[in-house]
Amino acid sequence: MAEIMWGLATSHVPSIGAAMDHDKTHDSYWSPLFDGYAPARAWMAEHTPDVVLVVYNDHANAIDLSLVPTFAIGTAASYSVADEGWGSRPVPPVIGHPALAQHLVESLVDDEFDITVAQELEVDHGLTVPLSVYCPEPGEAWPCPVVPILVNVLQYPQPTAARCYALGKAIGRAVASYPENIKVAIFGTGGMSHQLAGARAGLINPTFDRMFLQAIETDPASLAKITREEYVREAGSEGIEMIMWLVMRGALNDEITRITETYHVPASNTAAALALFENKDSTK
Ligand code: DHB
Ligand code: FE
Repeated sequence: MAEIMWGLATSHVPSIGAAMDHDKTHDSYWSPLFDGYAPARAWMAEHTPDVVLVVYNDHANAIDLSLVPTFAIGTAASYSVADEGWGSRPVPPVIGHPALAQHLVESLVDDEFDITVAQELEVDHGLTVPLSVYCPEPGEAWPCPVVPILVNVLQYPQPTAARCYALGKAIGRAVASYPENIKVAIFGTGGMSHQLAGARAGLINPTFDRMFLQAIETDPASLAKITREEYVREAGSEGIEMIMWLVMRGALNDEITRITETYHVPASNTAAALALFENKDSTK
């Protein structure tokens, strides 16, 4: 039986990747953010999974806005890194896990989540930046294969937070029914509060972010009750990316252990955060 060992929530801001690619992580602007990552990176390096599920959104780089799946899963053997206008990031190609991906699709469809299947997919900063947050120096290859799980957070109507949380629970059941004994990690990506355009461009809401960072561990059901309109109002039009953290959280146990977290403003136009959870209650 496969088992989810840990979950990582992390922002995916493109310039976090660019700072790493251009060796700027020790600059005064970036070092507070990257210093905050250090304990999580050390812990994750000691707990390498066999495969990681990355819950993320494409930003109209690989998936044209003429076709917007609400939820999709990549079933490919590999995923090339998208060119978002400045050439592809100098990171390894992403190796897939078709067997687990196909099992997830089957199990989720049987569980009444009608998942779109992506048999070919390029991956943009939404997926590659979280991989870099996890593993800053991958060398020739990332530490393990990846199953991309896509959520539409760009185009109205985005799925509800409640649906994302329920999808996470279904993913948890699907992983538990995978017959091979493999260790799985799951990433929930995006956020925290930010708005890139319009009259409220530059919006940051630390009060909402701090509430969310706490409740994602202890009371995710309360976050699942928040409407999409309230996410946009409180966290900004791109802050609604935070609903993807609820997919990750739903896949974990009710009781989990927070290993570490960090919150920093600003990273580009966002409030950036990382939270790392082990999928067991250390008090038991
Ligand atoms: C920024 C943040 C994002 O989430 C994104 O997808 C693109 C850009 C930014 O703050 O620059
Ligand atoms: Fe984004």
